[in-house]
Amino acid sequence: NKPEILVTRAVFPDVLERLARHFEVEANQSDRIFTEEELAQRLHGKAGVFTTPTERVTAHVIAANPRLKAICNMAVGYNNIDIDAAARAGVIVTNTPDVLNETTADFAWALLLATARRVTEAEHWLRAGKWDRWRFDTLLGADVHGSTLGIIGMGRIGQAIARRSTGFNMRVIYHNRSRLAPDLEAHANHAQYVSKEEVLRSADHIVLTLPYSPQSHHAIGAAELALMKRTATLVNIARGGIVDDAALIAALRAGRIAAAGLDVFENEPAFDPGFLSLSNVVLTPHIGSASEPTRRAMANCAADNLIAALTGGNPLNILTPRI
Ligand code: GLV
Ligand code: GLV
Repeated sequence: NKPEILVTRAVFPDVLERLARHFEVEANQSDRIFTEEELAQRLHGKAGVFTTPTERVTAHVIAANPRLKAICNMAVGYNNIDIDAAARAGVIVTNTPDVLNETTADFAWALLLATARRVTEAEHWLRAGKWDRWRFDTLLGADVHGSTLGIIGMGRIGQAIARRSTGFNMRVIYHNRSRLAPDLEAHANHAQYVSKEEVLRSADHIVLTLPYSPQSHHAIGAAELALMKRTATLVNIARGGIVDDAALIAALRAGRIAAAGLDVFENEPAFDPGFLSLSNVVLTPHIGSASEPTRRAMANCAADNLIAALTGGNPLNILTPRI
């Protein structure tokens, strides 16, 4: 008898086929996002679950399912899962790190450049029929080359973003819970470790790449935005909730900072409608890792972890302590 698993959302059909060779698979054909209670019920009798960032795997969901052995998330972020509750229950939790570093760093640059050079605003303007002549001051933006890049949260994605800045002749400053080893700093365009306040004060362009946790909740709020340069841009490719969206909207509206590029939002997909009335934002729907090869690699990585966890192998990306 194959172990039973649940796949919470739609995923590449060939990945489902792979899983079906090892497991009795219940797939969520409707692709509706399960509520906490639905997830608790659907997991009855299941040994494993393939999750995405849209489901909350709470202590209640875990406690209601004593046969559950593995929760394998198709994402590097795992703030949707109560890791402590899982660890206490002896449930393995895995994520999909590394396979998305380069793709996500590419996207951070896409957002940074689009935000600083007003690419989407310019396109909306053109599509609205407003382009009737060349003018010396049409849609002037900020320069990216030669400026100071600030990175808050210098994990593997932050380092990949920093590496790309060499071609733009940028100085890189960063803040992180701990300082990187000198060889990693050197590899990240000689990034310089400074306080968070120093990043906020000195950077021309700031990219947030820190994981969400109760400690990073509203790490960027009104006080932090007030430290930034008026000409600065802020890019968030990490998680909603790291930025206080209401404070950011107020700062953008008042011209306290120049612009923001946002791929993630508090309460997404139901983000604050105040963003829609601003022209100095670039808004994207949580697609930082969304290239075809990378989303496939993430799905296969989550599947590899689930197969290893339930068939006596060693999952590579365990977040919970091994019991
Ligand atoms: C996506 O947001 C991820 O955490 O992989
Ligand atoms: C702009 O189009 C230029 O030629 O400088």
